[in-house]
Amino acid sequence: MSEYIRAREVYKSFQIGGGTVEVLKGVDLSIEKGEFAAIVGPSGVGKSTLLHLLGALDRPTAGDILYEDVSLAGLDNGRLAAFRNQTVGFIFQFHHLLPEFTALENVMMPLLVARRKRSEAQEIAASLLREVGLEHRLEHRPPELSGGEQQRVAIARALAVGPKVILADEPTGNLDTKTGEAAYELLRRLNRERGLTFIMVTHNEGLARRCDRIIPMLDGRIAERT
Ligand SMILES: Nc1ncnc2c1ncn2[C@@H]1O[C@H](COP(=O)(O)OP(=O)(O)O)[C@@H](O)[C@H]1O
Ligand SMILES: [Mg+2]
Repeated sequence: MSEYIRAREVYKSFQIGGGTVEVLKGVDLSIEKGEFAAIVGPSGVGKSTLLHLLGALDRPTAGDILYEDVSLAGLDNGRLAAFRNQTVGFIFQFHHLLPEFTALENVMMPLLVARRKRSEAQEIAASLLREVGLEHRLEHRPPELSGGEQQRVAIARALAVGPKVILADEPTGNLDTKTGEAAYELLRRLNRERGLTFIMVTHNEGLARRCDRIIPMLDGRIAERT
């Protein structure tokens, strides 16, 4: 495997109420292409903040993130957004599906935003929902789906524009053990079959142990340097 993503001396602080909160204090991290990595650590340590920076949703206060030879610090806001839209898929603990739209429409949404033709978007979305085992739920709205099904719609949506890396923030955190296990197995299959790189934040030690690598965070840094 070869290095795909590198965080280099990444710092992140937030200005809040006249003070500064230092969250990330020099994160160095290297992720290989096709790797399935787990980020673990206590609540408030900066896991979600790091995931946002890795996914180009936000910028570091200092330091840089590189995707192969692309430096995110070197991209202006427009290019950064374009890079994110083409490269990264996000899955969250609370799926953030649009409740008034069907499963099919939810998965079509990023494709329509990317200006794909409606018929094309529909075809891709239906095929992705089939891939995650929801071919019988295309017309259901999120409130009519179980928690596990909702998360599978969110997984299909994350895949819609053909990302190379999936960033998942506690994707099983809101699911019972068995359903969470099934969601993990689905992500693993996508990792294997599509060669996608995964970075997953999780509190589930059992799942973390089954990933290719555990990246422990402590006090705004990676506890063991990688
Ligand atoms: N947008 C923000 N503004 C101010 N503080 C923030 C912001 N985002 C995160 N933080 C703070 O950064 C710290 C780490 O948050 P987070 O990355 O969500 O931790 P974790 O995901 O490890 O639980 C917390 O103390 C949180 O309050
Ligand atoms: Mg978090």
